Amino acid sequence: MIEIITSAKQNAAMCALIQAELETLYSVSKVLSKSIDLKQTLAEVLKLLHDQGRLLNGMVSLLDEDGRDLMVFAVHEGNRVAPLESVCYQQGEGLVSIIMKSSEPIIVERLTDEPRFLGRLGVYDMALPFIGVPIKIDKNEAIGVFVAQPPSGGSLLGEQARFLEMLAILVGQSVSLSRTVVNEQRALKDERDYLRREVKSEHGFDSIVGHSPLIRRVFDQVRQVAKWNTSVLIRGESGTGKELIANAIHYNSPRAGDVFIKLNCAALPDNLLESELFGHEKGAFTGAITQRKGRFEQADGGTLFLDEIGEISSAFQAKLLRVLQEGEFERIGGLKTIKVDVRIIAATNRDLEADVEQGVFREDLYYRLNVMPINMPSLREHAEDIPDLARFLVEKISRIQGRSLTIMDSAIRILMRHSWPGNVRELENCLERAAIMCERGHIDRDVIGLAGLKESGTINQAVKPVINVDLDDPDMDDRERVIAALEQAGWVQAKAARLLGLTPRQIAYRIQTLNIKVRQI
Ligand SMILES: Nc1ncnc2c1ncn2[C@@H]1O[C@H](COP(=O)(O)OP(=O)(O)OP(=O)(O)O)[C@@H](O)[C@H]1O
Ligand SMILES: [Mg+2]
Repeated sequence: MIEIITSAKQNAAMCALIQAELETLYSVSKVLSKSIDLKQTLAEVLKLLHDQGRLLNGMVSLLDEDGRDLMVFAVHEGNRVAPLESVCYQQGEGLVSIIMKSSEPIIVERLTDEPRFLGRLGVYDMALPFIGVPIKIDKNEAIGVFVAQPPSGGSLLGEQARFLEMLAILVGQSVSLSRTVVNEQRALKDERDYLRREVKSEHGFDSIVGHSPLIRRVFDQVRQVAKWNTSVLIRGESGTGKELIANAIHYNSPRAGDVFIKLNCAALPDNLLESELFGHEKGAFTGAITQRKGRFEQADGGTLFLDEIGEISSAFQAKLLRVLQEGEFERIGGLKTIKVDVRIIAATNRDLEADVEQGVFREDLYYRLNVMPINMPSLREHAEDIPDLARFLVEKISRIQGRSLTIMDSAIRILMRHSWPGNVRELENCLERAAIMCERGHIDRDVIGLAGLKESGTINQAVKPVINVDLDDPDMDDRERVIAALEQAGWVQAKAARLLGLTPRQIAYRIQTLNIKVRQI
């Protein structure tokens, strides 16, 4: 009779325990799936074991990532999460190391009777039982140990060890997931940093060649302007490197870590340009099947490069002006006003001043864009950079073609005699053709001839050495500087203005106020 009562009591106790364990298991799985921060989730798991799961003084230790040291990740003592000192188990020490080594659980009825117990953590109750189970991934070797103390010994101990083993499987899966995610994040971050460095060196100053005073002046302007958020207008003939400079400004600015978005304004008709820049809402027009963010939104926090800005219609100029002034716009078909923080760099090869004069380009937009003008000299104006440029471009082509290429001095001499109306782009194309045509990798005068450049007897007029006056010479006064620039520009005022970083209007004003007699040419 007594036996029956005892067994009924035991059954009831077992049922209650399993009930508590099931509820704990449910809560534990929720906690583990909540975050990949192991220290935080494991501490919460140990608290749940204490509060609901009838397992006290829990501890989880895990092998560090190179698989050498066993580190304590979470400890629960009494009814609180114990502070984590960086306890680290040495190989072969105490119960935890035995569990690691054997990958088998250890169940102890009373901790005080266990001679192998070292008690380094000092959180265990010596009068209570002790259960320690290995944490494994894929049934392989143990990657950690999960320990806890049931509040009493006896017949339920085996069941509690089984429960702890189940929990160890869940913890093992979480550890595996968390480590995979952390490793992937690290790999992605390394790759991102690598690509950023690559992009920066590809688009930074290293990619711009030239030692002539005109190019050095551009370098200085880029360096100065990169720091600020002001709009920049890059002027210059086709192929002079306007896009290259826009890249250099962005990648040397505080926004370098953010996006650099480009849009060629001449490539699209008005309606497409508007949707491209401002985006559209779903159903805004036929074909707008989904909502789409425009370039302005994409460039938020970064830089937007508007190439060929001189080509936009006057209706579009008005729309653009509003974004530049207010920093806000609506998507096509949208009511919500969107605010963005975008730095604008624009480029054009048009004579915008003449366009303003003729009323085809809005004056207010011109002043908005032209806060900081940078004038790219034509290649004729800095012909002394041709040898460096040619060598640099040949190296670039050689990398792209994956073979070794050299350019001979005889070829460079011919390049120096050409007037390069298409500027650096034309030079690059010419060298690319030459590279394709030269079989042995030596680009000489004959190959250049084959590539379409004719050798002319005299140095081309346009390449005549520039009168080498340093316009930044501190000893020159303002009047001398303007005269020097005019001389250097063959008395073409617009060109001299470019040399000095002035607008044609500004130079005309200075010529007048400094009483400079303009030579007619
Ligand atoms: N100073 C320079 N150093 C090295 N490469 C240069 C230089 N200037 C231009 N280039 C190269 O010449 C080519 C043309 O330059 P880029 O596209 O920037 O010119 P662009 O002024 O924007 O021309 P376009 O008006 O035709 O668009 C590019 O391949 C660029 O890398
Ligand atoms: Mg361009």
